[in-house]
Amino acid sequence: MTQDQLKQAVARAAIEYIKPKLFSDSIIGVGTGSTANFFIDYLGEIKSLFSGAVASSDASAERLKKLGIDVLDCNSVSELVVYVDGADESNPYLHLIKGGGAALTREKIVRAVSKEFVCIADESKWVDVLGKFPLPVEVIPMARSYVARELVKLGGAPVYRDGVVTDNGNVILDVFNLQIVDPVALENRINQITGVVTNGLFAAKPADVLLLGTKDGVKTLLPR
Ligand code: 5RP
Repeated sequence: MTQDQLKQAVARAAIEYIKPKLFSDSIIGVGTGSTANFFIDYLGEIKSLFSGAVASSDASAERLKKLGIDVLDCNSVSELVVYVDGADESNPYLHLIKGGGAALTREKIVRAVSKEFVCIADESKWVDVLGKFPLPVEVIPMARSYVARELVKLGGAPVYRDGVVTDNGNVILDVFNLQIVDPVALENRINQITGVVTNGLFAAKPADVLLLGTKDGVKTLLPR
């Protein structure tokens, strides 16, 4: 199976996973990226089962709207029944690295508002220790150099993601060379740096379940 076929399989599995949780007034949190795009496309097939969605990026919002799914402002919603999104890495605790698509801050907000986070990923994202994928950090443009120097002090090698401006008008530093043995501590530590909006570690609030696409089928994994 190709990586895209594995992504499609987990997107389809996510539809089956969330269906029993939906009511006609339910609002769903929807993520960003190629795996999330497959999920959005399948979501169009069951749009009569829920009321609308909050999207973690302008791109996902556009894709949802094209399918006739109502997209709501997060501020008008008190709770999302479920949030479905991909990841760049997951460890067995379902601590994640996200933000490869630069949507990490809105993803964290959607995750915060959601009752349950269902992560969907192909098996290439599964790791024992996070950090092979460079950790994205969203930064206020004026603080870019300062934050980069602080990240070097933490042992990282930050690289400016040239030409990328987030939906919030900020920039991204991708931090290489991190062996993330304590993801919760590092998530909190980086968020303390002045000028950081947030970082792509989802460890303080990890995924609740991971649907992992493997050559042997989709595995439903709970945090260790
Ligand atoms: C976007 C993300 C994505 O979930 C992550 O990059 C995975 O993307 P893909 O499904 O394309 O592999 O965090 O900011």
